[in-house]
Amino acid sequence: MASTIDIQTTTKKKQKPLQHELGFGIHFTDHMFIMDYSEGKGWYDPRIVPYQPIVLDPAAKVFHYGQTIFEGLKAFKTEEGKVLLFRPDRNIQRLNRSNERLGVPHIDEDLALEALKKVIAVDQDWIPTEPGTSLYVRPFVIATQPALGVDASTHYQFIIIMSPVGNYYTEGVNPVKIFVENEYVRAVKGGIGEAKTAGNYAASLKAQEIAKEKGYSQVLWLDGVHRKYIEEVGSMNVFFKINGTVYTPKLNGSILDGITRSSIIQLLRHWDIPVEESTMSIEDLYNDAKSGALEEAFGTGTAAVISPIGELNWRGEQLTIADGKTGEVSSKLYDTLTGIQRGTKPDPFGWMVEVTL
Ligand code: COI
Repeated sequence: MASTIDIQTTTKKKQKPLQHELGFGIHFTDHMFIMDYSEGKGWYDPRIVPYQPIVLDPAAKVFHYGQTIFEGLKAFKTEEGKVLLFRPDRNIQRLNRSNERLGVPHIDEDLALEALKKVIAVDQDWIPTEPGTSLYVRPFVIATQPALGVDASTHYQFIIIMSPVGNYYTEGVNPVKIFVENEYVRAVKGGIGEAKTAGNYAASLKAQEIAKEKGYSQVLWLDGVHRKYIEEVGSMNVFFKINGTVYTPKLNGSILDGITRSSIIQLLRHWDIPVEESTMSIEDLYNDAKSGALEEAFGTGTAAVISPIGELNWRGEQLTIADGKTGEVSSKLYDTLTGIQRGTKPDPFGWMVEVTL
């Protein structure tokens, strides 16, 4: 049930960055949403306040045991000034699935949607409008109980912050180079790979640093047991077009259930392009590339949108895909998805939710 959200606005507005210099997740808006939880009382005191530091006890469980989850979604402003959110209901549902896996109490979905809409409305003049830009919205939950016993926290905070962003990759919408990770693993089935929680990202940092030193933007993770089957890139799900069919690793418990991923599958089906969710080995992919059957590769994610993959490197073997250029399907998907999001193309599936100001 939706409840009343208290709103305290600030008159001390920050200077907004130039739209062509946004980068990703560097600048933050003037306000944030915050709500508390304590055992026995439930979630309480939902409020919008000026953007500010949060004060936590150094024993807060989030610092010690990583009990935290997050989401990422985007808001856009159309040419007519309408504010649109891309599939926020899906993010809220996934937030609660992650909460469930991490032992965090469920958040009322209507209240979470109301909080998103209200805080975005308050800072709507921060939504950039240039091509490739948007307002990235980051809801997250942290365990705040000051106690060192290893059990689920009795206290939490649910916070929403917002950042005007440009492209996630410095390559922009040009193809990225991805290093196939052979040594480290991100997640295993039964673990927390499917949840949007900090630990999965912490597990990826070392491998990503090594890949970056070698000139690659990101790491492609293989399954944690056989190091054979393709999983995801960490900031995006992956797709490969082979002999006219688009394949993506099927959800297996250790891969993130990407909202852009499922939207892309829906779009491809709508266009009658064959698409399959399957178990894909890296070896078969390399063989398909060598026989000329691999036509395109791309990643999908809220931050990354559609990001063509121009090169893979697995065990020192470099693979150039689509001559290192953006493929036809990747390009059509990017144009269609961003067109739907910005309200310049029809939205046949009713994905966009308007924020009334
Ligand atoms: C997103 O695409 O929203 C993500 O969460 C990926 C990354 C920025 C962590």
